[in-house]
Amino acid sequence: MKKERILVTGGTGYIGSHTVVELQNAGYQVVIIDNLSNSNRDVLNGIERITGCRPDFVEADCTDMNAVTALFDNYPDIAGIINFAASKAVGESIEKPLLYYRNNLNTLINLLELMGNRGVKGIVFSSSCTVYGEPDTNPVTEAAPIKTATSPYGNTKQICEEIIHDTINSGAPFKSIILRYFNPVGAHPSAEIGELPNGVPQNLIPYLTQTAIGIRKELSVFGDDYDTPDGSCIRDFINVVDLAKAHVIAIERMLQNQSEAAVETFNLGTGIGLSVKELIAAFERATGVKVPHKIVGRRPGDIEKVWAEPSYANNVLGWRAEATIDDTMRSAWAWQCRLRERGIM
Ligand code: UD1
Repeated sequence: MKKERILVTGGTGYIGSHTVVELQNAGYQVVIIDNLSNSNRDVLNGIERITGCRPDFVEADCTDMNAVTALFDNYPDIAGIINFAASKAVGESIEKPLLYYRNNLNTLINLLELMGNRGVKGIVFSSSCTVYGEPDTNPVTEAAPIKTATSPYGNTKQICEEIIHDTINSGAPFKSIILRYFNPVGAHPSAEIGELPNGVPQNLIPYLTQTAIGIRKELSVFGDDYDTPDGSCIRDFINVVDLAKAHVIAIERMLQNQSEAAVETFNLGTGIGLSVKELIAAFERATGVKVPHKIVGRRPGDIEKVWAEPSYANNVLGWRAEATIDDTMRSAWAWQCRLRERGIM
């Protein structure tokens, strides 16, 4: 028998699509709402090829209250929501702050407003380690102070967390789990789905794999004069499938009334800090493919070092990151090669 129905907003996006796969593999029925602003319909084919099941799909914008209301009318059995729908480019958010505040805040407000009287039990919210800014110490626990956001994108994550707390504190009849991701990377091992950035990638791994395959001439390493062992920045690179699995655990926890508080917040990371230079070396070791790169100046706004203390998620959710960095790098490379085979890139 099929399990409950889960609404996945932004379900054709990078983390959303991997989560839909894990939800369907766990027996959940899924309906996706996505405006395809940063993804495409073909992702549904990839999900179907992996799971043998095509999720229901509604092409609409979550900031459109009428569209979201119609969706709840058509699917009165939605038991839980995972909210990925959001704009996520740090640089773009500085140029177009209102777009970010409108998209990210209105989406969440619409969902919270509707779910209250539709019997939805819980909402998982995609947050980010960006809320910690430059942390005072590493690894970072969930109790670390929230720092002033350095971009409108980061600010939307902080405000959305506050909106969730305020709404639930006011007596809303549902629960929430906030997941703070570190740096999600890699692709599904089948290479049927992965990250597909629009235009020139801003993030490290898509730029790296596009350089390795020859689309970009050279990867720029932004700074090697940081206070780190090799001078390059340190991040916690978390495999996207591992990350997706945490969402299934979180939604199950709320549906089965296992939450210990009405709002719970978890870091999702490996607990291992890896420098940009170490990551390039890991990619070359795992794939045997060289990545032409050069050191350039620092990128404004970058955090020097941040990695997770994931033991709260490990102990309470029973979740842990399992993929090795080599496996993750091979999956990212297989996905890039698949895009080339399909003539997409
Ligand atoms: C940023 C956001 C994070 C968001 C993530 C994914 C902040 C502080 N961080 O993470 O919230 O979830 O994007 O959208 O807002 N690098 C290079 N060369 C490149 C690209 C990146 O050296 O061409 C370096 C960067 O300087 C950084 C590291 O690689 O040290 C990771 O960069 P990136 O992948 O862009 O992610 P973050 O900036 O860590």
